[in-house]
Amino acid sequence: MFYCICSLVIPTKCYRHYPQPSKDVIASLFVFGDSLFDAGNNNYINTSGQANYYPYGETFFKYPSGRFCDGRIIPDFIAEYAKLPFIPPYLYPGNHNFKYGVNFASAGSGALTGTRQGIAIDLKTQLDYFKNVSNQLKQQMGYADAKILLSRAVYIFSVGSNDYSFPFDTNTTILDSYTTEQYVGMVIGNITKVIQEIYKIGGRKFGFLSLGRLGCSPSGRVLEGGHSGACFEKLTPFVKLHNRQLSMLLKELYTKLKGFKYSLVDFYSFAEERINHPSKYGFKEGKVACCGSGPYRGHASCGGRRGEKEYELCENVTDYVFFDFAHPTEKVNGQFATEAWSGKPGFSGTYNLKALFKSK
Ligand SMILES: *[C@@H]1O[C@H](CO)[C@@H](O)[C@H](O)[C@H]1NC(C)=O
Ligand SMILES: *[C@@H]1O[C@H](CO)[C@@H](O)[C@H](O)[C@H]1NC(C)=O
Ligand SMILES: *[C@@H]1O[C@H](CO)[C@@H](O)[C@H](O)[C@H]1NC(C)=O
Ligand SMILES: *[C@@H]1O[C@H](CO)[C@@H](O)[C@H](O)[C@H]1NC(C)=O
Ligand SMILES: *[C@@H]1O[C@H](CO)[C@@H](O)[C@H](O)[C@H]1NC(C)=O
Repeated sequence: MFYCICSLVIPTKCYRHYPQPSKDVIASLFVFGDSLFDAGNNNYINTSGQANYYPYGETFFKYPSGRFCDGRIIPDFIAEYAKLPFIPPYLYPGNHNFKYGVNFASAGSGALTGTRQGIAIDLKTQLDYFKNVSNQLKQQMGYADAKILLSRAVYIFSVGSNDYSFPFDTNTTILDSYTTEQYVGMVIGNITKVIQEIYKIGGRKFGFLSLGRLGCSPSGRVLEGGHSGACFEKLTPFVKLHNRQLSMLLKELYTKLKGFKYSLVDFYSFAEERINHPSKYGFKEGKVACCGSGPYRGHASCGGRRGEKEYELCENVTDYVFFDFAHPTEKVNGQFATEAWSGKPGFSGTYNLKALFKSK
């Protein structure tokens, strides 16, 4: 029961959809985090952090679903690999079927409650929603079956970028109160709590990506002045320390928590490679966004809804690494998901996502 949707960008290529989940569903998928993973939760909250207008979504879905991308985001590709339907946003009205998982991610959110507070759903609230879902599953399926579902499920996270970027792009002074080590420690501490809570409820399989090359996004280059070609390197110490600590944390949990398994994919190197050597990976432009305005099209104006009405849109999105000021194109997301699914196990994880899904 597949139907085909043809991409405008590559008219000859059809993608398979799974409107009905296939019989060989391996395990469910629960999605947490920020705009890299948000499939539309922010459509249902009062926030300026939305992407539910043209040209978002133009490549694949043909309508602006709320994803910060021209097409599919990483969780969509992972769902396809796992033979799951696209995982719906938790806040999507009328969604009560959580058997294949659900997506809690919210653009702008971070591990800290204070990160872009009021305009995003923070990680702790996402955890509260998950608790609610796990209770509903137990009521619907019975305790024992729900436990099996939850322990076979994979829990993926994209979190941290906003905790480090928001002080710089909103000019708050929060970083004056902490050393880099203390601030990263709080972010990692809050992520740890959330993992432990999910583990307590029965989750065993966790998938993470490290933070990307944040200072070299189009908006990062704008922060740096926009004309020098340089990245905004004030973010880099935070990103590097976070990535080291995340790796150490997962290793530690692997030794401490019985049955805990994880995958950690190196998004930092993945992103840096494509930004600096686009043509090696099938792109023509690694620095300028496809959609936006200002230097590197690094202003958050794609679609003309956020203060600036005028913006530019590239002709051929498949040439670009960045779709807008901070988010990769569908083509990049697809390449990343392929690496996460079947690549060599992450630099310290023991599993790729395929192995994680299939593990008992
Ligand atoms: C939505 O948020 C804006 C800005 O914070 C506020 O002015 C407005 O009253 C809010 N609308 C609703 C319906 O809460
Ligand atoms: C939890 O789920 C119930 C439906 O069973 C819903 O009415 C309630 O609003 C949910 N609470 C949260 C915090 O999502
Ligand atoms: C942030 O503050 C600095 C110094 O007060 C100012 O020069 C800069 O324009 C501000 N940036 C933003 C985005 O408000
Ligand atoms: C979580 O973050 C808050 C600040 O939002 C901080 O006060 C708290 O110590 C952090 N928790 C952990 C366990 O690090
Ligand atoms: C878009 O770019 C891709 C890759 O460079 C190329 O294969 C394709 O023909 C281009 N499409 C159009 C409509 O120019």
